Amino acid sequence: MNSIEKALNDLQNAVKDELGVQAQILSAVDSFRVLLKEQLERIEKMSAEKVDFTKKEVVTIGLIDGDGIGPIIMAQAKRVLEKLLQEDIASGKVVLKKIEGLTIENRLALNKSVPEDVLAQIKTCDVLLKGPTTTPMGGKMESANVTLRRELDLYANTRPVTIPEEGIDWMFFRENTEGEYVLGSRGVELPGMAVDFKVTTDAGTRRIARAAFDYARQNGKTRVSIVTKANIMKKTDGKFTAIAHEVAADYPEITVDDWYIDIMTANLVNTAIRNQFQVVLLPNLYGDIITDEAAQIQGGVGTAGSANIGDKFAMFEAIHGSAPRLLELGLGDYASPQSILKAEAMLLRHICRPAQAERLEKALESCPVTVTGDPANATCSAYADALMEML
Ligand code: IPM
Ligand code: MG
Repeated sequence: MNSIEKALNDLQNAVKDELGVQAQILSAVDSFRVLLKEQLERIEKMSAEKVDFTKKEVVTIGLIDGDGIGPIIMAQAKRVLEKLLQEDIASGKVVLKKIEGLTIENRLALNKSVPEDVLAQIKTCDVLLKGPTTTPMGGKMESANVTLRRELDLYANTRPVTIPEEGIDWMFFRENTEGEYVLGSRGVELPGMAVDFKVTTDAGTRRIARAAFDYARQNGKTRVSIVTKANIMKKTDGKFTAIAHEVAADYPEITVDDWYIDIMTANLVNTAIRNQFQVVLLPNLYGDIITDEAAQIQGGVGTAGSANIGDKFAMFEAIHGSAPRLLELGLGDYASPQSILKAEAMLLRHICRPAQAERLEKALESCPVTVTGDPANATCSAYADALMEML
């Protein structure tokens, strides 16, 4: 090849590469267009009509075992629920319905984060108690949690953390359907580069902010802390902050303060000030991270419950994952059911059974048996046996 031929050849290759990149950019722009359209449509679908459980004749509670330690802790949660709701179940006012098929094996086999028939069964229930489900790392499959939160429009993730001896009584209101999560499995890749998207809507922010301020008002709380990274994520977190303040204007009796997520994570380990926080309002991903930190401060992620609330459906779950390591070590029976039981108490409150919720909360507070996932302590079922005695 002479030098002219070589130059021509190089030029051809350069043109081909450039065309390839242009084609990929065009295809990324096309998919972005679809995503934007879908997100605008999602806003239209946000409902506003709330189910009133005081008027509901029959409440159906779906029970989902989940993966890993899920079936172990759920077995105990079911026993406790059956005892607390004995009369309502006998009279048909409460129906417990086992939902099958939300297992990692089935989901992988069908290549669906929540198989359609499972979702259809779920939608026949009013509320769900759900064991942890395994999320495959990488790949395309979305987490079942994220799918369910979206499909059931469970926009408020509420996570209480209390340490009475320290005067800590925190309630986190994590936005649960937007932010980095809504398109987290639908980013785009170009050679040497990956891009994900973060979405914040006016309506989505307004409803979570309202939920947080209503909670504060109804529970005698005087302070709501808004946590973002609006100095960096100017559009999305900027909007979140602005709308949260707009909503706050309707609650003049409540003090509002703003924090960036980095300093807020530090605040939670600052014992000089941390018990002054009350209600914390945050976008999805920050809420995910900080509630694990808060749960750990309380005594471990095994000790905190979590509620996913929408206007129509609600789902209650443990804050932790399916703990595959515990099973690999053959220690599944030592898994702590405390987190799912706390979620169960939240479920009882949600369906207007406050007396039963209180019985469970009291028993959880004073149960003398220690369960930590460690074989030096009690098994999951031994803990539940002791708790049942105290109900
Ligand atoms: C949680 C979990 C989930 C989340 C996972 C399992 C998808 O960490 O509920 O906090 O990231 O929201
Ligand atoms: Mg989490």
